[in-house]
Amino acid sequence: MTEVPEVELNTGSMMPMVGFGTWDLREKTTSSVANALDLGYTHIDAAEGYLNEDQVGKALKGYDREDLFITSKVLPGNLNYGSVVDACNRSLDKLGTPYLDLYLIHWPNLAISLRETLHAFKKLYDLGKVRNVGVSNFSIYELKIARRISETPISVNQVQFHPWYHDEELLSYCKEQGIQLTAAAPFARTAVFDDPLIVELAKKYDKTPAQIVLRWSLQKGVVTVPRSSSREHIEENLQIFDFQLEDSEIKKIDEIPREQGCDYEISLDDEVFGIPS
Ligand SMILES: NC(=O)c1ccc[n+]([C@@H]2O[C@H](COP(=O)([O-])OP(=O)(O)OC[C@H]3O[C@@H](n4cnc5c(N)ncnc54)[C@H](OP(=O)(O)O)[C@@H]3O)[C@@H](O)[C@H]2O)c1
Repeated sequence: MTEVPEVELNTGSMMPMVGFGTWDLREKTTSSVANALDLGYTHIDAAEGYLNEDQVGKALKGYDREDLFITSKVLPGNLNYGSVVDACNRSLDKLGTPYLDLYLIHWPNLAISLRETLHAFKKLYDLGKVRNVGVSNFSIYELKIARRISETPISVNQVQFHPWYHDEELLSYCKEQGIQLTAAAPFARTAVFDDPLIVELAKKYDKTPAQIVLRWSLQKGVVTVPRSSSREHIEENLQIFDFQLEDSEIKKIDEIPREQGCDYEISLDDEVFGIPS
């Protein structure tokens, strides 16, 4: 079985560099997560907004909890103190676990005090219900505020990150501050597979475009959470530790000209059931 390398978070916790995304798996959720666990994934990226945490939980049964790294996210409409605590308890219940390895604010919500949300995160942290806290879809400005007011370290920012959309300024800031960036939608939902440079590198290394894209992310120090409902793809997405892109190739991917899609930004709103209230 493939051993996935881990990265140390700013709390000392270890996070596997490749996780399994669970958005939009619908009725295939339990079987896909079960396949991922069977093939060696130990990091599962869940969220209350994906409306399938109970099905993820079914697949987790029978595994030693301490061997897994489970993330969930609270919806932007649930960021009041009491709502955060309730949302977390619901996620724990559905996932069938006494604690989350990582709990993220799924999207910022200007209508609700971030201080209040992070205070609730601290409460959950003190209770041992979440071992690390973080955010998702936060800008540098939002991260600066979060870091200043949070009573627990902000360990992760999960954002859209793929060869056609990667905010290098945000990545540098996160690295400087010890915040781990996680790539959401690492394949731009398959759109980047047709990129000529990605196709060329896939041929060169006898790999698939998916594997080139994941390798690029890892070599940039970015954790990635690809999603797939196909056992073959799930396995393929872990076979990325037996080759290395050259620095010049990483740079070439970084510099894919804008007209080839660097500005391409998928709407992530549809990935979250609730839009900020
Ligand atoms: N925090 C956020 O706001 C946010 C936003 C977006 C995503 N995310 C997280 O990131 C995860 C991944 O993003 P995503 O689900 O949007 O999409 P994605 O991982 O970029 O792409 C998923 C698509 O890629 C295909 N695929 C996967 N592996 C493949 C392979 N080896 N060869 C060919 N096709 C392959 C899948 O089809 P098959 O099923 O046929 O393999 C599926 O259609 C989500 O599930 C979620 O956990 C978080």
